Amino acid sequence: MTILVIGGTGKSATPLVRLLHQANHPIVLANRSGTVPAPYTGTRFDWLDPSTYPLPFSTHPDIDRVYLVAPSLIDPYPQVKAFIDYARARGVRRFVVMSGSPLEKGQPPMGRVHEYLDGLGVEYCALRPSWFFDNFATQYADRIRTEDEIVSAAGDGKLGYVSTEDIADVAFKALVDDVIEHDNPIIVGPELVSYDQIADMLTEVLGRKITHRRLDEAELKQVMLGRGMPEEYAQMMVAIDGYVAGGGEGKQFERANVVGKRKIRDFFEANKDVWRKVD
Ligand SMILES: NC(=O)c1ccc[n+]([C@@H]2O[C@H](COP(=O)([O-])OP(=O)(O)OC[C@H]3O[C@@H](n4cnc5c(N)ncnc54)[C@H](OP(=O)(O)O)[C@@H]3O)[C@@H](O)[C@H]2O)c1
Repeated sequence: MTILVIGGTGKSATPLVRLLHQANHPIVLANRSGTVPAPYTGTRFDWLDPSTYPLPFSTHPDIDRVYLVAPSLIDPYPQVKAFIDYARARGVRRFVVMSGSPLEKGQPPMGRVHEYLDGLGVEYCALRPSWFFDNFATQYADRIRTEDEIVSAAGDGKLGYVSTEDIADVAFKALVDDVIEHDNPIIVGPELVSYDQIADMLTEVLGRKITHRRLDEAELKQVMLGRGMPEEYAQMMVAIDGYVAGGGEGKQFERANVVGKRKIRDFFEANKDVWRKVD
């Protein structure tokens, strides 16, 4: 009875594997190198190389549940479907899949995976969180450190930014409970916030002025391309900001199934050093 955690060293899985380990559930963490931090056991696995799909099962033949972070492709469905089929044949009976708040069943990219799992009749849960707090400590961090700014095309749009620890609480239960409580839970943080409000919070916490610079979609796309993002992926990310600007995430907040406890301001306080000024 082992849980395979694909993307086990990533943002969403990190607090999840901590919970599973503390509760003594046998786990194995998969990523491309197979190298994982102590005290965990790792396995090599690459979504883009199907010859690696058997590797986790060769060392852990009793894997029966999978936490799944898909590859960051415009359409990861072919790879994810192929792996689900393989894993089922190897005895996996439950899948907990990282998806996203806007994605209804059937809606590309990950909604197609919800639909596929639904059709198979297997036990599954598609987690639909809003945006992660951790984005500010990863992809947005450099710009905050060097330019004192957050850039977006989200305008006054608001988001229910959520802690990966709150997401992990839901994922943990979905993996270990006898019966899964929600099949496609929308998971949000306790507050709906705009980027202007986030910039104000960072200003207070860091003691220096942080600005939300409003870009139009073409300008934001240039920023994404400058970060080395492929064109099609940059276009998708820009469209997501447009969806936020149009109030899409505000609506998802209203219909959330799970409201997390952790507040974004506390995350900023606890991680202040991440945004220490760099000139
Ligand atoms: N960030 C947000 O605000 C947000 C909100 C809602 C939903 N999501 C969804 O969350 C997912 C990302 O999850 P995350 O933030 O936990 O991931 P993450 O922090 O980006 O980490 C990705 C994990 O997958 C591994 N990985 C990368 N490429 C791989 C490959 N080809 N084969 C096998 N493993 C690979 C990485 O390790 P190696 O690089 O070492 O292989 C790492 O362990 C995306 O599907 C995104 O749409 C994100």
